[in-house]
Amino acid sequence: MSDAYVHGYHPRENERLQDQAGTLVDLLHSGTAYPRGSTVLEAGCGVGAQTVALAHRSPGARFTSVDVSADSIAEAKRRAELAAITNVLFRQADIFALPFSAESFDHIFVCFVLEHLARPVEALAILGRLLRAGGTITLIEGDHGSTYFYPDSEAAHAAIQCQITLQRAAGGNALIGRQIYPLLVEAGFDTVHVSPRMVYVDPSRPDLVDGFTRKTFTAMIEGIRESAISAGLIRAETFDTGVRDLYRTTESDGVFCYTFFKGVGKKRRDA
Ligand SMILES: C[S@@+](CC[C@H](N)C(=O)[O-])C[C@H]1O[C@@H](n2cnc3c(N)ncnc32)[C@H](O)[C@@H]1O
Repeated sequence: MSDAYVHGYHPRENERLQDQAGTLVDLLHSGTAYPRGSTVLEAGCGVGAQTVALAHRSPGARFTSVDVSADSIAEAKRRAELAAITNVLFRQADIFALPFSAESFDHIFVCFVLEHLARPVEALAILGRLLRAGGTITLIEGDHGSTYFYPDSEAAHAAIQCQITLQRAAGGNALIGRQIYPLLVEAGFDTVHVSPRMVYVDPSRPDLVDGFTRKTFTAMIEGIRESAISAGLIRAETFDTGVRDLYRTTESDGVFCYTFFKGVGKKRRDA
């Protein structure tokens, strides 16, 4: 693996990615549908949390979904079989050493992967070479700096900052969502368009309270407790208060907001 993966590969992390994908399918996937007969590379598919939505939404397209983790690929295959998906081939592969020839895909889809890479522009340039002229790349990334909530809490912001710091130390960038436009442009893509996709959660949206605030975002922050404390980033007490305050936002007067960024760029015809 080219870069350390800060979230790890534990079953709970897999569940978290699944909860996130299930809760946010429309928010993240609206606008993405590939034509019948087109070939699509999904780079960094993980356990297939987005793959199932992608394949369902574009039943006539043929997907190749790769991930550097063989265990994740095995789990993704299992989930695709359970969902009766038949238009996806899974393969273990590193984005920096992909076993495909130039211009062999019509489209590329990458979700929550660049945030873990120390060399995101290089990864995008490599992926771009696999696209046919006029083909598109779609990127989706979060940005932890876009998190705000009611009641506000310094301790919760401090706990979130630990995740940002740990991810940076592992070579990644938990604030990458805001950079999607410049990254795509720097990697040579054309007609780049970015749409912010905000998750707004209050008690009138119980699915999001549970699926996003609790099981996706707060579970992610809870998951770095030991690493954050042993790295000396925060006192255990402050971290625990922060997590408690994040859960507090799921109570009857609480509100939680987070923004994902979805960008699409085209491969130039003269590239
Ligand atoms: C947060 S997960 C996202 C998985 C999936 N795209 C989703 O949205 O649920 C990031 C994935 O990127 C994969 N990954 C990280 N570096 C990679 C690389 N160099 N090549 C291929 N996959 C990579 C990790 O193994 C992990 O499965």
